[in-house]
Amino acid sequence: MDFAYRLTLLFSIAAFVGTADAENPGLVVRVTQKGLDYALQEGVIALQQQLSHIQLKDIPGTHNHEIVGKVHYNIFSMNLGNFQLPGFQVSPIPNVGLKLSTSGGFFEVNGRWDVQHSFVHENGTFNIKVGGLGMSVGLNLRNIEHGKPTVSVADCSCHIANVEVHMSGTIGWLVKLFHDAVESKIRQELEDKICPEINDIINSKLSSLLQTLPVETNLDHISALDYSLMGPPSVMANWVDVFLKGEFFYRSHRTAPPFAPPAMSLPPEQDHMVYFAVSDYVFNTALLAYQSARALVLTLTDKMIPKEFGVHLNTNLLERVIPAVSKMYPNMPMKLKISAASTPALNITPGGVTLSPIGNFQAYAILPNSSLAPLFLLEVKTNAFAKAAVNSGKIVGTLENGKVEVSLSHSDVGPFSVSEINMAMNLLVPVILPHINDYLKYGFPLPLIEHIQLSDIVIKTYEHYLLFGANVQYQ
Ligand SMILES: *[C@@H]1O[C@H](CO)[C@@H](O)[C@H](O)[C@H]1NC(C)=O
Ligand SMILES: *[C@@H]1O[C@H](CO)[C@@H](O)[C@H](O)[C@H]1NC(C)=O
Repeated sequence: MDFAYRLTLLFSIAAFVGTADAENPGLVVRVTQKGLDYALQEGVIALQQQLSHIQLKDIPGTHNHEIVGKVHYNIFSMNLGNFQLPGFQVSPIPNVGLKLSTSGGFFEVNGRWDVQHSFVHENGTFNIKVGGLGMSVGLNLRNIEHGKPTVSVADCSCHIANVEVHMSGTIGWLVKLFHDAVESKIRQELEDKICPEINDIINSKLSSLLQTLPVETNLDHISALDYSLMGPPSVMANWVDVFLKGEFFYRSHRTAPPFAPPAMSLPPEQDHMVYFAVSDYVFNTALLAYQSARALVLTLTDKMIPKEFGVHLNTNLLERVIPAVSKMYPNMPMKLKISAASTPALNITPGGVTLSPIGNFQAYAILPNSSLAPLFLLEVKTNAFAKAAVNSGKIVGTLENGKVEVSLSHSDVGPFSVSEINMAMNLLVPVILPHINDYLKYGFPLPLIEHIQLSDIVIKTYEHYLLFGANVQYQ
């Protein structure tokens, strides 16, 4: 075995291991045929504008006229316009990219002609109707740059089937000249110039639009979301899937999460232009980041309890349940510090989204000199239902009432009945939830390119992921 061969073998084994070991994405963006059609429709508008900028070279020349002799002519001031590109189609080419094609394009060229011999000087206008414009463009979606997808033109061809000239004036030989020489020159120049314009629009406009996809977004001073691409988009017969990491991390200290993204198998739905599959991994890495920052903490004081609850967070509240408290700290305000005991786990199933946090409730009495006297520490388990929604391109959430189950971890005020505290805690849940939901309403942004608005949003839950279907509008 020679060295190069061994090296190749080594790399192919390494490549195989790499693939077998490949991580699942946290987030998948699927663009359906409907989405591709919409993008094309927007693209065709841009293409028509771009093609109208094509400049055709003047065509000067001399013609030997049998009677008047040498005649100088010039064809100039040619402008392209009235583009119509009906029946433009986009189709995914599995494992390669996209094919854009049309065969019935139409446009016009308007220009001027000018003829000069001895003292005679004549001029006029002409109009060329170009029909049967065929274009075929292959787009390569296989490359990635800095965690974002790129698009490039893999191949382009253009063909013009017919050209029809209408001229003002009645100079017979000029009309003939147009048919014999000018027409084919113009057709050739158009065919030569259309593909470079397409290349230009893909390389500049479409590529720069894709570059507006976020790769990383800072949510706040604590966490950031990694949206980087995990591999080239997967082009299937009916859609294009983009696999993103979808991982939150603690900005001050990024570590690999101790759990892996789940496998997601998306349903073959195609009613909407785009689908976002967001796995529970995304949410769980978010919870992990905030827990690492010790930020899953809520302090509840009397001020935060709405009047209509008719309850005051005061030691008197415990008079009956823990008589010792009202004796040691009579009529003093209380403070509750609620923190996650461990990273809460969010679980998504076809039945819904549940969050099962285990919290520590530390109760304090606030002494007249403002220092805190610890009363007791409870461990609180709950099973909350969560709802997700999309608001201005962001996934937002709300937690709904869940029953809590309390156990005593430590008491500074002697023994007491946990079951009565349990009831009190369940009464507090509707007070605490709105404060948690206040945070959840900020949500996190879906990976969208600029100028995109989502509408007709539907949400479904599947095993381990939420599926958001939406139509898009480019603004
Ligand atoms: C075209 O011809 C007209 C007279 O027939 C003349 O007035 C005009 O200046 C000419 N225009 C150009 C651009 O040569
Ligand atoms: C506040 O008052 C308590 C009890 O009266 C006392 O033990 C504590 O040292 C005081 N704290 C401060 C900061 O003065």
